[in-house]
Amino acid sequence: MKYRILRSLGAAAVLSFIIWPCASLAQTAGAAQVAAGERVYSDYCSNCHGEGLRNTSGGVTFDLRRLRDEDRDRFVGAVLDGKRQMPPWRGALDMEQIESIWAYIRATVDR
Ligand code: HEC
Repeated sequence: MKYRILRSLGAAAVLSFIIWPCASLAQTAGAAQVAAGERVYSDYCSNCHGEGLRNTSGGVTFDLRRLRDEDRDRFVGAVLDGKRQMPPWRGALDMEQIESIWAYIRATVDR
């Protein structure tokens, strides 16, 4: 009985040693992606969509903070193909850059 408890404690300790660094690595990778997205956004999008996602266009451009988590495909589609006054970015931005902008939007809106 004692051994079983000890064993499961041991297993929990070992597991947390495995899981903890993975989680913090994932966080670091996430933070780097968000930082990259912030840069791409400020270079390519902030002119029209507002500094730091704060849309001051008075409704002329879309407020990107309105996008919900489930709107990712709509976001990627609009960025690649454009929409009315919104220029298409296919060929100008690669998927990694577009994904990083999405990560930046999510990190800003969902916190
Ligand atoms: C030249 C100005 C301009 C730039 C630069 C610009 N946009 Fe837009 N964007 C617009 C306008 C205007 C709209 C509104 C389009 C409409 O619905 O008529 C829009 C709409 C959008 C939408 C919403 C489309 C939808 O589903 O309704 C997304 C997403 C978007 N832009 C993302 C971006 C991203 C990301 C960048 C930077 C890579 C960017 N835009 C750069 C002008 C711009």
